[in-house]
Amino acid sequence: MPLLIWDDCFNVGISEYDNEHKHLFSMLNKTYDAFVSGSIHKELEALLRELIDFSVSHFEIEERWMAANMYSGLLEHKREHQRFTTKICVLHKSMIDGNNVNVLELLQLLETWFVNHILVSDTEYVFSISDITH
Ligand code: FEO
Repeated sequence: MPLLIWDDCFNVGISEYDNEHKHLFSMLNKTYDAFVSGSIHKELEALLRELIDFSVSHFEIEERWMAANMYSGLLEHKREHQRFTTKICVLHKSMIDGNNVNVLELLQLLETWFVNHILVSDTEYVFSISDITH
């Protein structure tokens, strides 16, 4: 059973970004499945690496679009992206260094961050830019 189920309320209305957000949800659910099935310690390093790579790529695409549309909240949005990436990179490095990662805390962080960021910050920039361009 997935931890987080996609709902239309998460759609920001740009299919490229919605598809990428769905992929982020699926990575969270994959991590949760590995946790429930007991295989998390074998899979966590690869899952974190995949999450970092995909998030960084998604964030760069969004930031380019916001910059091209002169979105006034770009700097703060970039900061949110950076704070998230830093947290996950620190966890990943800590794991590589041989420390245990609290998977429940990680799942909670991912769930809270994805939901809040998509529902509030991502939705806000799409609406703001749509207002300007229409
Ligand atoms: Fe879709 Fe701002 O991340």
